[in-house]
Amino acid sequence: MTDIELVKEAFEARKNSYSPYSEFKVGAALLTKDGKVYRGCNIENSSYGATNCAERTAIFKAVSEGERHFTAIAIVGFKDGVTPGLEEYAYPCGVCRQVMREFVNPKEFRIIVASGEDHFKSFTLEELLPCSFEPENLL
Ligand code: THU
Repeated sequence: MTDIELVKEAFEARKNSYSPYSEFKVGAALLTKDGKVYRGCNIENSSYGATNCAERTAIFKAVSEGERHFTAIAIVGFKDGVTPGLEEYAYPCGVCRQVMREFVNPKEFRIIVASGEDHFKSFTLEELLPCSFEPENLL
């Protein structure tokens, strides 16, 4: 699966966003080491605090299906009718970055943020979450 294909999956995932409060629709597509894609969208809640981000939806879907090995996640977020500028990306929130850290090697796992189906850039998790608290801390 190419980065462009994974970004397209994130755009598809965004279509299912449940975001009546912020109207900010986010889609994520998580790629497993064996090439499977898990899609996720943000799911808001009238209590606000119970809202789940698109990235965590995708990760929790995958982990709950037994997946443990991931290579990349593509993310796209914007309001309908507000076309993002080419350099306007929706980066994953801190909680989602920490959840990613639980399951991946931060030097290898890639986070692809997209502002258009053919406009995106890629970071390692280590670049976006340096000096992280990690499972090994508890050993
Ligand atoms: N959101 C995500 O889905 N992912 C992020 O990493 C940042 C924020 C969602 C949560 C909420 O539904 C909306 O975007 C506005 O914060």
